[in-house]
Amino acid sequence: MALSESGLPIEPLYGPEALEGWNPETRLGRPGQYPFTRGVYPSMYTGRPWTMRQYAGFGTAAESNARYRQLIAHGTTGLSVAFDLPTQMGYDSDAPIAHGEVGKVGVAVDSVEDMAVLFDSIPLGEVSTSMTINAPAALLLLLYQLVGQAQGVPSDRLTGTVQNDVLKEYIARGTYIFPPKPSLRLIADVFQYCKAEIPRWNTISISGYHMAEAGATPAQEIAFTLADGIEYVRTAVAAGMDVDDFGPRLSFFFVSRTTLLEEVAKFRAARRIWARVMREEFGARNPKSLMLRFHTQTAGVQLTAQQPEVNLVRVSVQALAAILGGTQSLHTNSFDEALALPTEKSARLALRTQQVLAYETDVTATVDPFAGSYAVESLTDQVEAAAVELMDRVEEMGGAVAAIERGFQKSEIERSAYRIQQETDAGTRTVVGVNRFQLDEEEPYEPLRVDPAIEARQADRLAKLRADRDSAAVDRALGALRRTAEGSGNVLHPMKEALAARATVGEVCDALREVWGSYVPADSF
Ligand code: 3HC
Repeated sequence: MALSESGLPIEPLYGPEALEGWNPETRLGRPGQYPFTRGVYPSMYTGRPWTMRQYAGFGTAAESNARYRQLIAHGTTGLSVAFDLPTQMGYDSDAPIAHGEVGKVGVAVDSVEDMAVLFDSIPLGEVSTSMTINAPAALLLLLYQLVGQAQGVPSDRLTGTVQNDVLKEYIARGTYIFPPKPSLRLIADVFQYCKAEIPRWNTISISGYHMAEAGATPAQEIAFTLADGIEYVRTAVAAGMDVDDFGPRLSFFFVSRTTLLEEVAKFRAARRIWARVMREEFGARNPKSLMLRFHTQTAGVQLTAQQPEVNLVRVSVQALAAILGGTQSLHTNSFDEALALPTEKSARLALRTQQVLAYETDVTATVDPFAGSYAVESLTDQVEAAAVELMDRVEEMGGAVAAIERGFQKSEIERSAYRIQQETDAGTRTVVGVNRFQLDEEEPYEPLRVDPAIEARQADRLAKLRADRDSAAVDRALGALRRTAEGSGNVLHPMKEALAARATVGEVCDALREVWGSYVPADSF
């Protein structure tokens, strides 16, 4: 019996005869209605296509700004910022630990001045911007707000998302700073701050993507992601917020694999589970709190370095799966990303893939075209059941944080990754160009390279910033931040004062490290 990526029998639970007289509207509800199996909006793409939101960023803020303006010129409809590792880990570009990583996997942002350059000539009142930033998400959100204010944009006009999902960093991605308890406090502070100051901002992007890239199956991906979501909701409710105060501004982020049918089923199952959890466990009443709105990125781990142009086909299938699954926002990987950072041409081709799907095919003309498909409805039921069973196991351990501390999610994902590698090595899992249909000799490819001199340029910018600013004001603001972190107030207010006084990302994070400490995984030695 062939098994799906989730280890489920591919043979549908029921065949066409079981669906005779089967009415999607009575069996599933309508699109835009609880439990949203068929999509979060009644009109879905017939009302508005998904946001074409290409993840991008490298080098200095000026270089990334140029790429964003290229993408906007090519028709992208949402921005998505990739930060370099020092920024993601809360270190300045001139910190010894940052050496060799400045501007490498994303843009280097040390201060409000860098943020202003990053969005130079980009009207923040007219674009929505996602920022893939987790442990220091609050800082980058405040820097964005400060730049918006400098542009004259009222904060209640700003739209976008911070990823702000540290639990998956402990499980699969690694850019954590503080231990779980202060990390969860900081995330809840962002929820409260945005409710009051930046009400259209999506405060978190609860992510399954990185767990999937680490090897999680579709059922594991949604189970561990939704379990993290439950932990965040419990934290905010325990901090005194009403679930409908922040529920509508939670968002999610999933992968889209080449196994199209199971991926469509995965997205439909995730919406149905989340709607039920928010209504039945948390008593949410606002329909927007029940809607699982999500971004999708095509599966980076399924890109091959061999015959890289074949990745264009994989990304097209993966993008189609996300669209048929009802994504709100989509990033399509560039075909050369298994080799290096995408060139402008490969990034443009990735965007053109979405534009062909949106404007040349008919997939935007029908809402939830798979409704009533015996194969997809059967797979949706199976993925849902497998995911709920895993969520119950996490709950039995005491929830996502308790399970993380036992290493449960990590070990389950590693087991899946090992199985996938074994199948690939054995040839029972075909990877075109890698274990079948190989070329005798790969064709040459010239990758994009990041100029190593940017590290010195960024260090010079920091030296000038520190020389020009009012250091006494910075010290006072950092002192106020430490005192708030030691207490129970919302740290974003003193944090914003410090950043406005030109405290750097590293200095603010160091002040919090002094109070909260740094997370050390149980299995580290
Ligand atoms: N009918 C009615 N209204 C509609 C509609 C329809 N058919 N379609 C859209 N709308 C409305 C929405 O209600 C929304 O209104 P609002 O402004 O009042 O909220 C507006 O139009 C925008 O629509 P969406 O919110 O659906 O779309 P967005 O693109 O703005 O937001 C999101 C999508 C998923 C909610 C948001 O959180 C988002 O953009 N997330 C992106 C996350 C991201 O890009 N992550 C990248 C991570 S990269 C990474 O981590 C990988 C790396 O590590 C390798």
